[in-house]
Amino acid sequence: MSDEDAVEEAEELESLDEIETSAETPEADLLPRDREEDDYLQKARATFASNPFPVLLLSERMRIEFANEACERLFTDYYRLSGNLFSDAFGKALGAGVLHELYGSVHSREKGYSWKGLIRSKTRGSGTVLTKAYLFPLYSVGSRSPSNYIAFFDDVTTENKNLLRSVFLSLLEASKLKDNDTGKHIQRVNLYARRFAEILYDQFGYQSIDRDFIEDIGFLASMHDVGKIGTPDDILNKEGPLAEWEWSIMQEHTKNGAYILSTYPNPMAREIALNHHERWDGTGYPFKIENSMIPLSARIVSIADVYDALRMKRSYKEAFDHATAIENVKEWSGSHFDPALVDVFERIDGEFEKIYEENAD
Ligand SMILES: [Fe+2]
Ligand SMILES: [Fe+2]
Repeated sequence: MSDEDAVEEAEELESLDEIETSAETPEADLLPRDREEDDYLQKARATFASNPFPVLLLSERMRIEFANEACERLFTDYYRLSGNLFSDAFGKALGAGVLHELYGSVHSREKGYSWKGLIRSKTRGSGTVLTKAYLFPLYSVGSRSPSNYIAFFDDVTTENKNLLRSVFLSLLEASKLKDNDTGKHIQRVNLYARRFAEILYDQFGYQSIDRDFIEDIGFLASMHDVGKIGTPDDILNKEGPLAEWEWSIMQEHTKNGAYILSTYPNPMAREIALNHHERWDGTGYPFKIENSMIPLSARIVSIADVYDALRMKRSYKEAFDHATAIENVKEWSGSHFDPALVDVFERIDGEFEKIYEENAD
């Protein structure tokens, strides 16, 4: 984290504290209520207890009084709900700015004492859950301002992911019309890269790998050559060696890919397309960056892509067997590839072989 980020985060946390301390003390919520209010809350609890939609009941002070089963299940890896202030549970995910807006909105008559927005919750082990959230006021008999709030959540994680992916899958289909690599090749690169990331997840020194990273690389690795959509056919399909000027046009597929994938919300898409031909010793392309300057995702995809290319028959070479492909990868440890990753690769090379055999062309 840069210094600036750290300062920003500290400031954000401070302002979250302000919100929490500006709310009434927890004791205020525990003052005896009148019977009528108890009845009304009990009815609300009973109504939503086994409802399949995730629901929270909040006090006037935004303390979570009740979370139904569906809601506990949805957020079980992310927050402790019941008894907590709403800001304690969701504050960090929303950020100080949105939380201020939310609190302003649920206390504003003009805004109907309501709020709606998106909450992105994340942990290393469980990845991201994206939910739409709707907060509405509840009124006890005779009351003119909200005596409680109710929150509904709609889990849109899968919907959102599928929509996004379908757009990029069409792009991948379009690029396959030009590139002579097979659909199976890109499928296998996804599988190797995903497995690689799963192994690294448990290793010391790879804290940046979380569940999202594993999911994402298992989809985005296949996009590494999407930029070839912009490479002229006669260069792409040329038999025999490329002239220098042709080679420099060929290399552009990395930058083109990064450009095409720049609208993908996760920067990993761009990183893989741009850097999958960079080499550990700085002799790759397009920018000759080296070592850990090359994003980890691209270092992983680079090994997966080359191993698979070695196994395949190409116009300029025969297909290598697994043992020969492994020898080549090992030989390029420290020059082409990150040596720490090659060490891991050697430990799981049998899994690579299995993926190749099970998904052969
Ligand atoms: Fe490439
Ligand atoms: Fe490839």
